[in-house]
Amino acid sequence: MTLPTPRARFDGLVTVRAAGPEDYAVFERLFPELAVEEKTPERGRWERERMPTTLIAEAGAGAEPARAVGYVYFQIIRDTAYVRHVVTSPEARQQGVGKAMMTAVAERAIASVPPCTSWCLNVRPHDVAAMALYTRMGMTRAFETRALRVPWSVVDSRQTLQDARILARVISPEDDARVEPPMNLLHGQLAASRRLEGRVLLGLFDDEVVLGATVFDPTFPGAYPFRVARPDLALVLLDALRPYANPADTLVNVVIEDQPKVADALIAAGATVKLDTVHMSSRTIATAVRAAPLTSR
Ligand SMILES: CC(C)(COP(=O)(O)OP(=O)(O)OC[C@H]1O[C@@H](n2cnc3c(N)ncnc32)[C@H](O)[C@@H]1OP(=O)(O)O)[C@@H](O)C(=O)NCCC(=O)NCCS
Repeated sequence: MTLPTPRARFDGLVTVRAAGPEDYAVFERLFPELAVEEKTPERGRWERERMPTTLIAEAGAGAEPARAVGYVYFQIIRDTAYVRHVVTSPEARQQGVGKAMMTAVAERAIASVPPCTSWCLNVRPHDVAAMALYTRMGMTRAFETRALRVPWSVVDSRQTLQDARILARVISPEDDARVEPPMNLLHGQLAASRRLEGRVLLGLFDDEVVLGATVFDPTFPGAYPFRVARPDLALVLLDALRPYANPADTLVNVVIEDQPKVADALIAAGATVKLDTVHMSSRTIATAVRAAPLTSR
């Protein structure tokens, strides 16, 4: 029999603060609550990549010492705040911690330069708690996302010959402005990805026409975002990534956002579905702050 997690009441006294190196232990304890396959990132990588935009929620009243009851990790991509993780300690759920953390993100996003005008995230459609929290923060469904596992053998054995005019090459900073709009990427998304350790940014080009773009993390290994102009180009882009993959890896994780036909083409070729999520967003980030008056610093 599973016993319910005992609730620790703290009467709504939640503060939210910026994370520091000492908070790695909080991250390490709470990251598994997301139930994702990714291994918990090691301390150095967390400190470099995630800590600067991680906030810690603390609870505790009066003389009681504050204790960490949650963390939120987000990225600011120009005028959009992308919430990547939100976790509340199991014993502290449904007491406003999630709302306090999301409100704190919204406050920081509005205060950033340039100020964020919208925010977004991905959520599992059957995650009742998360859906309730995000809906409460004013977000609505925007599109569906499929995370796929593609065996490299599917790429290696493909018969299709690449069109000789299509060139696969690294996307340089000078390319960003002409790659992002047709590939439906956020303005600044490529620059933000380029700043992350070890990422490979690869594009497919036919002269001036952009046919594909992806960001590959060989250590995960995963390709996200992953965009192609036509479903048949998905394997062409993966083929271009192949030399950057660790030879010991047998598969690559690929996240397909709002391109169901691309996902279908990869599944038909031998990929399997790892996870379906819903992308939620809102252009009323400022309203979220006004609607949820909770303490944050
Ligand atoms: C999702 C999660 C962060 C919510 O955190 P929380 O601290 O419990 O959220 P809050 O207490 O601030 O609740 C926010 C709103 O969601 C509602 N809510 C929260 N959990 C709920 C549940 N299980 N069922 C229904 N509604 C729920 C609350 O009632 C509240 O709505 P209200 O203001 O209208 O009353 C938490 O459940 C969690 O950590 N889950 C595991 C990790 C995870 O899945 N994260 C999300 C990944 S996308």
